[in-house]
Amino acid sequence: MAYYVTTPIYYVNAEPHLGHAYTTIAADVLARHMRQRGEDVFFLTGTDEHGEPVAQAAERLGTTPRELADRNSVRFRALAERLGATNDFFIRTSDPEHEAMVADVVQRIHDSGHIYAGTYEGWYCPRCADFKTEAELLEGDRCAIHKIALEKEKEDNWFFRLSAFQEPLERLYAENAQWVVPETRYNEALSFIKGGLTDVSMSRSSMSWGVPVPWDTRQVIYVWIDALLNYYTALSYAREGEDLTERFWPATVHLIAKDILKFHAVIWPALLMAAELPVPGRVCIHGYLLMDDEKMSKSLGNVIDPFAIIDLYGNDALRFYLLREVAFGSDGSVSTEGFEKRYTTELANEYGNLASRTLAMIFKYRDGVVPAGEPPAALRAEFEGLATRVSERFDLTDLSGALDLAWVLVRRLNQYVSEEAPWKLAKDESAAERLDSVLYALAEGLRVLSLVLHPILPDATVRLLDALGHEDRSLDSAEFGAHAGGGRIGELGQLFPRIEAPADAAATG
Ligand code: MSP
Repeated sequence: MAYYVTTPIYYVNAEPHLGHAYTTIAADVLARHMRQRGEDVFFLTGTDEHGEPVAQAAERLGTTPRELADRNSVRFRALAERLGATNDFFIRTSDPEHEAMVADVVQRIHDSGHIYAGTYEGWYCPRCADFKTEAELLEGDRCAIHKIALEKEKEDNWFFRLSAFQEPLERLYAENAQWVVPETRYNEALSFIKGGLTDVSMSRSSMSWGVPVPWDTRQVIYVWIDALLNYYTALSYAREGEDLTERFWPATVHLIAKDILKFHAVIWPALLMAAELPVPGRVCIHGYLLMDDEKMSKSLGNVIDPFAIIDLYGNDALRFYLLREVAFGSDGSVSTEGFEKRYTTELANEYGNLASRTLAMIFKYRDGVVPAGEPPAALRAEFEGLATRVSERFDLTDLSGALDLAWVLVRRLNQYVSEEAPWKLAKDESAAERLDSVLYALAEGLRVLSLVLHPILPDATVRLLDALGHEDRSLDSAEFGAHAGGGRIGELGQLFPRIEAPADAAATG
C-alpha cells in the first residue's frame, strides 16, 4: 500500500526552531513505522520560500529574498538530517520544476473558470501571508498570531472562486469523518465552511517574489497557493526521470499545526477539486509547543534551538521528549528542565538501564548467551498483540498513545526485574531454570519493545537490537516469543549516558 506523509514546508524567513523540528519528527516517526510494516512510503518535507514572509525578512536583513532563502533552506535541510529524518525528498518552492508546475495547475484552474479579476480591500498580515477579517484581529488592529500592527490594503487581484466549493467541501466532510483529525479541528474547519465561504485572492500585485501568474505576469501567485501545491508538484520531479504521482497521489496524511488549519482543510481541497485532482486522505493537526504558556515562535523570541538540544543529548532524546511530554494533538509546554528530567528518569534509568542490566546479567550468569526459557504466562499475555495495538495508535495518528503503550511495558520489565531479583536466583542452583526464564523474558521483552519503539528512538533501538543479535527490523518479528533463545549477545555500552552540561544551554530567545 502506498503511504505518502508530508510536513508543512517551512518559511525560510528565519532559522528553524523546536516547533519545526516537532512536525518533522512526527512525520518521520510515521514514515519509519509504516516502512516497518512493509508499506511503500514517501515522506516529503521542505521549505516555503516565496511571498511577503520571506521578502520582508530579507529586506529587514538587507539581503535579497533568494539569498535569504538559500541560506535558511540549508538550515532546515540540516535540521531534518540532524533529526534523523528519513524524508525521501526535500522540496524548495524556488525549484524551477515546482514553479513550472504551479503555473500549469493554476492555468488549468483559470481555464476551467474558477479564477476571475477582482479587488481585495481589507486586512493582511505579511507574516502569516494571510487576509484577516476584522473579527480575527487583536485590539489595535494587530495580528493575533504575530502581534504586529496590520494595515488595511486595497489591491487588484485575481480571485479563486472558493465559494463555488461550499457544497463539495461539505460533502467531503460528511462522507469522511476522518478527513481532519482530531475531531475538534474537524468541527472547527467544518463550521468555518458552514459559516459561508467567500472567494479568496490567489495573486498579489504589490510584490514580485513569487511565481508569476501565467496570464498576467505583473502579478505573482499568492504564496499559499504556490506553497500548498508543493505536496503535488514534488512527486513529479523528486526522482529524476520518474514521475511518482501515480504511485503516491493523493497524499495519505498531511501533518500540520493548527495555525494553518484553514489553508489545509478548506482552501487546499477546494483547489484540488478545481484542478480536478483527487483530495488527500487526511489532514492531521497537532498542537503547539509552548514556552511560558505562549506558542514557541521566532517572532515572539521564545524558542529552543533544536540543534543545541541534539548536541547535548542526542537525537533520540529529543524525539522521545517531544512525543512523551506533549500529548500529540494538544498544546503542551516544553522546557529544558523538563527535558533533562525525562532524559534521566525515563530514557537513562528506565530504558537504558534496563538494557544494560539485562545484557550485563546475561554476560555474567550465562556467558553472553540468551538462555532458552519459558517466560511467565502473565508477562507473555501483557506483550500479546503489542505491535498491533501500537499500529492502531499510529493509524489514528496518536503518536503519544503509541509511545505510551510501549512505555508501560518498559516499566513492567523494570518491575519484573525487581520482583524476580535475578542476582538472588543466580546464587541458588535450584533456581537455574527460573533464572533462564527471567533472562530470556527480559531479552525478548527488550527486543520487542525496541522494534515497536524504533521509529521514535531510531539510534538507541538499533544499537540494542544489534547487541541482542536481531537484524530484522520489521514489525512482523515484534512478537514476544518469536525469537528463541540461544543467540550470543554483543557489547552495548551506555545508551543514554549521564549529561553534565547545563540544561539551559539550549534556550535562546
Ligand atoms: N510556510 C507555511 C506552511 C506552508 S505548507 C503548504 C508555514 N510555515 S512555518 O514556518 O510558519 O511553519 C508552520 C508549521 O511549523 C506549523 O504548522 C507546525 O507544523 C510547525 N510549528 C511552528 N511552530 C510550532 C510550535 N510552536 N509548535 C508546534 N508546531 C510548530 O506556516
